[in-house]
Amino acid sequence: MTVEQFQKTYGIVGKSKEIRDLVDITMQVALSDISVLIYGESGVGKEVFAQAIHNHSKRANNKMVNVNCGAIPEGILESELFGHKKGAFTGAVESRKGYFEIADGGTLFLDEIAEMPLTTQVKLLRVLETKEFMRIGSETVTKVDVRIIAATNKDLQKEVDAKRFREDLYFRLKAVTLYVPPLRKRKEDISELTDSFIDNYAKANDIPTPRITNEAREILVNYSWPGNIRELKNTIETAIALNRTGILDVESFYFLLQNKSDASSNRNLPVFLHRSPEDADREIIYRALIEIKRDLMELKQIVMKNYQEIHNSNDNIDIHEVVPIETVEKDAIKNALNYAKGNKKHAARLLGISERTLYRKMQEYDL
Ligand SMILES: Nc1ncnc2c1ncn2[C@@H]1O[C@H](COP(=O)(O)OP(=O)(O)OP(=O)(O)O)[C@@H](O)[C@H]1O
Ligand SMILES: [Mg+2]
Repeated sequence: MTVEQFQKTYGIVGKSKEIRDLVDITMQVALSDISVLIYGESGVGKEVFAQAIHNHSKRANNKMVNVNCGAIPEGILESELFGHKKGAFTGAVESRKGYFEIADGGTLFLDEIAEMPLTTQVKLLRVLETKEFMRIGSETVTKVDVRIIAATNKDLQKEVDAKRFREDLYFRLKAVTLYVPPLRKRKEDISELTDSFIDNYAKANDIPTPRITNEAREILVNYSWPGNIRELKNTIETAIALNRTGILDVESFYFLLQNKSDASSNRNLPVFLHRSPEDADREIIYRALIEIKRDLMELKQIVMKNYQEIHNSNDNIDIHEVVPIETVEKDAIKNALNYAKGNKKHAARLLGISERTLYRKMQEYDL
């Protein structure tokens, strides 16, 4: 399988050297059982790579179990990972399988590994080394065949230095480290990712694929994307959801031009929670203005369309409907005289001609 085929199969978009090199290593390690550490900022695609490794491995027919070590309360994490025997602690009314057993034969994805408590780290290392463990409260060992993929957006060496992460576990995990670079370091991927997110969104929502202008594309390429690919995806989906013209232009991404210096790494949501109230207000006003402008453009289009329809129908007018100018003139004079109740001076003024001309015309038309 080539790098391109692998990317296509597992939905990894990007032609930058960084991504291609990374995919190349990923393909090699996927086939082995070796533990892998995936390191990179939030939203760069760590989970995408973890899933690709699992799906490409000989374990693909078994489960990949995802555990977010940062989201599970400390006191519960161990029993979640290793399971427990009935009566092991208050509340353990039933024996329970842990994720290690559920993932047997497959892959255990330990996301946000830096958040794992030190005591749990000891136990994890032991399982990695012996491939066996004990359920909490049990005295018998359980054998498992689990491949570990861990991910983190923290520099684990720093965590080790600060004594928040065990060095022995770090050494064990880092043997194969995949570093997924932030999007701003591989700008050449932005355009392709953009097209792919536009296509996917249109397909998923059953709408015509919007076009994106070159200027808008340039804004996306030059933006710093502190929330990386997740932020790009959300931005494009928001822009399409608000779009009514079928064209994504500079205005669709106007909000990106604000706060360019804001490099906080947590801007992953389409609604920017980390903005000041003033910025949020300004954004709402901008969006309202963009909406108004769109309505105006739409109105303009409707008017133009109507005008053209009238125009076209005039061109097709039946020859019998064309009246000679004398007839028009005669009718106009009759109407004016009627309106002026026979007062010729008044009628002439209404018609915009001299009284003398009116007399002449009246004789001409036998009025
Ligand atoms: N190379 C890529 N091609 C296409 N889509 C991608 C790529 N990388 C990431 N994505 C998409 O970007 C989003 C974020 O990716 P993912 O969840 O893997 O990031 P992460 O690094 O695990 O983030 P976090 O650290 O916040 O958990 C997902 O919707 C994913 O599908
Ligand atoms: Mg993730």
